[in-house]
Amino acid sequence: MANTATHTVEQTLSIIKPDAVGQNQIGNIIEYFEREGLCIAAAKMLHLSETQAKAFYAVHKDRPFYKELVEFMMSGPVLVMVLEGEDAIARNRQIMGATDPSKADAGTIRGDFATSIDRNAIHGSDSAKTAKEEIAFFFQPNEIFTRQ
Ligand code: CMP
Repeated sequence: MANTATHTVEQTLSIIKPDAVGQNQIGNIIEYFEREGLCIAAAKMLHLSETQAKAFYAVHKDRPFYKELVEFMMSGPVLVMVLEGEDAIARNRQIMGATDPSKADAGTIRGDFATSIDRNAIHGSDSAKTAKEEIAFFFQPNEIFTRQ
């Protein structure tokens, strides 16, 4: 029977976090996306303010790890990117690996670069709705260069 699965070109937000930037791993991490066929449609380096970090992670504001998460995300520069490609949202999450690096497979970004659930190297949007909101949080439409 013919394969009727459809694939959609999507965009998703990725953040290389302060631990990985501080360890000089930006290029090595981007390679994981590019070799899987995801393109960088936008990128900028930022040092998040407290207001930005709190707002970006507002969905977690009642979780016990929120304060530590906000402090960590403000602790050094980050690289925010828009990744684009077929099924980019789900594929990005596979490439990143599990949130807790002790559960992430070797060969995933977290499996290879993260040291703990609090310092887990990378963030990626978890759904189409979140991707749209998170991209708009950091990028104007004219800063995103559609590649596919
Ligand atoms: P991230 O994908 O950036 O989304 C929220 C972050 O909170 C997550 O990665 C982790 O770095 C951090 N975090 C810390 N503790 C937890 C936890 N118990 N569950 C989920 N996320 C956690």
